[in-house]
Amino acid sequence: MPVFVATTQRGLGAALAEEISSLGGRVVKSNDRQVQFESNWKICYKINMGCSIASRILLTILDFNVYKPDDLYHHLQQHDFTKYIRPDQTLKVSAKVTNSHAFRDQRFLAQKTKDAIVDQFMDKYDQRPDVDNENPSLTIVIKMVDTKVSVALDTSGNPLFQRGYRRKQAEASMKENLASGIVRASSWKQSANLYDPMCGAGTILIEAARWAKKMYPGLHRRFAFEHWKTFQHDAYEEVFQELRNEECSTPLRFFGYDIDSRAIEMARDNAKAAGVDDVVEFKQLAIKDFKAFEEKATVITNPPYGERLGTVEELMDFYNQLGEIFYQLKNWDLWILSGNKDLPAKMRLKAQHRLPVWNSEIECKFLHYPIY
Ligand SMILES: C[S@@+](CC[C@H](N)C(=O)[O-])C[C@H]1O[C@@H](n2cnc3c(N)ncnc32)[C@H](O)[C@@H]1O
Repeated sequence: MPVFVATTQRGLGAALAEEISSLGGRVVKSNDRQVQFESNWKICYKINMGCSIASRILLTILDFNVYKPDDLYHHLQQHDFTKYIRPDQTLKVSAKVTNSHAFRDQRFLAQKTKDAIVDQFMDKYDQRPDVDNENPSLTIVIKMVDTKVSVALDTSGNPLFQRGYRRKQAEASMKENLASGIVRASSWKQSANLYDPMCGAGTILIEAARWAKKMYPGLHRRFAFEHWKTFQHDAYEEVFQELRNEECSTPLRFFGYDIDSRAIEMARDNAKAAGVDDVVEFKQLAIKDFKAFEEKATVITNPPYGERLGTVEELMDFYNQLGEIFYQLKNWDLWILSGNKDLPAKMRLKAQHRLPVWNSEIECKFLHYPIY
């Protein structure tokens, strides 16, 4: 059975493993940023189409050691790369080197890898695929750490977090898979209406609403595996229909507020493009006017935290004010994603859980405050 690796934003490995199992993958092992799983190709297509937390799904093909440059060529010849694409299609090599004596830098590794693969096509067809770094039919991902080399093929193509609904983006927008990952890692589990009082482009609420309506993220995009000779069109069509038929309505409602009217406009456009404007409402509102609009609900929010918006000094007072506002939300559940380790303490609320998670390069904490 093929072995795949799903990658994600650091910190979301556990939530990703759960999602992959629910889509039919057999999880072999996971760490905080990737999940190794076994499945047949049909399930791989389903995971590419249905997984909301993964960034990419890679097919593992080779693992070996390299002590001198020639070893690489020899090992790459153990795998037949001509079975994936025709010589008139295109390829790309994405290489990463850490600490290797045999290969000085990643360009050299990428070059040698490409040469070895191209030779296979020349031997068989007397014709070779061209390199296309923008839109290749086949991307080979090669990683070298010391002498250890792993080679994989990217089955996804464009990263899976590019859902296509975010035509405009607020300055500090989070990636769609991070938003989905924190929503799923929280205790909300579709148990109550959901609020984001500092919603920016609305990513958290849009991802939560799509989850509630069982709208799978990859039904309207193309994948790298569709360009391969090994593509099983019938299996793809079957899982496509299966996932599409799951779409349903939800009794839940989602409310997003932001002080910035442009962000609200953007969030409304994004929700419409994402097909959730029937359940998500956005309104311009300053946080000082936010209160318990109903008896019991959940807040998941990502307030400004200094890296991209405002200075840390200005934000100290702001978090102090946030603490007072959130303290009024009796019986609500509150989850905050913050990229500054000192600011949340200014709220003077007691966090019950802290999940470390990375927003691109920024180390954040996802904090849970049940309000009693
Ligand atoms: C880090 S961004 C949120 C990004 C959002 N999660 C997304 O994916 O687009 C923080 C948001 O808080 C909003 N904000 C800042 N001060 C505010 C205030 N006093 N009241 C309400 N919103 C505020 C900003 O306009 C910004 O959109």
